[in-house]
Amino acid sequence: MNIVPQPLFPSLVWSTVFDDREAFNRKMLELAYRMREQDPAGVQNTNENGWQSPNILQNLEEFAEMNLRITQVCERIAESQNFNPNLVFQLQAWVNISPPGASNKVHYHANCHFSGVYYISLDAPDCGSIYFRDPRVASRMMTYPTSAPTEFTASELSMRAEEGRMYVFPGWLEHGVDVNRSKSDRVGISFNVLASPRLAS
Ligand SMILES: [Fe+2]
Repeated sequence: MNIVPQPLFPSLVWSTVFDDREAFNRKMLELAYRMREQDPAGVQNTNENGWQSPNILQNLEEFAEMNLRITQVCERIAESQNFNPNLVFQLQAWVNISPPGASNKVHYHANCHFSGVYYISLDAPDCGSIYFRDPRVASRMMTYPTSAPTEFTASELSMRAEEGRMYVFPGWLEHGVDVNRSKSDRVGISFNVLASPRLAS
């Protein structure tokens, strides 16, 4: 007897790694710390004990290459999901510097199709993983008596942070970041991307 599972409405997390991550991350790390120097207070959002920049990277020339890469990755994903052609991809991005002891509360991002994170610098594996919550709210009514979780039975799943890796996921997918238990900062760039129809000129 052949029993075949068929995923319906799967929650996808896409991931990619940049080939030139070492040189690219050196530049990004310098820019990230320079931003914090210029604005030590930053903004308070979901970050606990960490520093977050204002949501302005999309307006800064020095982040043009980062912004382009984020947009290109999201465009490729959108293409794979049959998004309409000729959409405009609007980006918002910000820096997160999470020292030892810092974490990010569970949250999701409204008004965007994709959200994500790009890791610039960290001390794996204790720097804290990003974790995702099962968005199938009704599934919380009944847990499964399993010895080990699967993608179907888990209520939370983690993806490991890695320098040079970008994760992209739907903005509605609840996520948070574990406490950084390493001895180094976890530095990354987070972003939201909205795909809108191009207005006729
Ligand atoms: Fe987030």
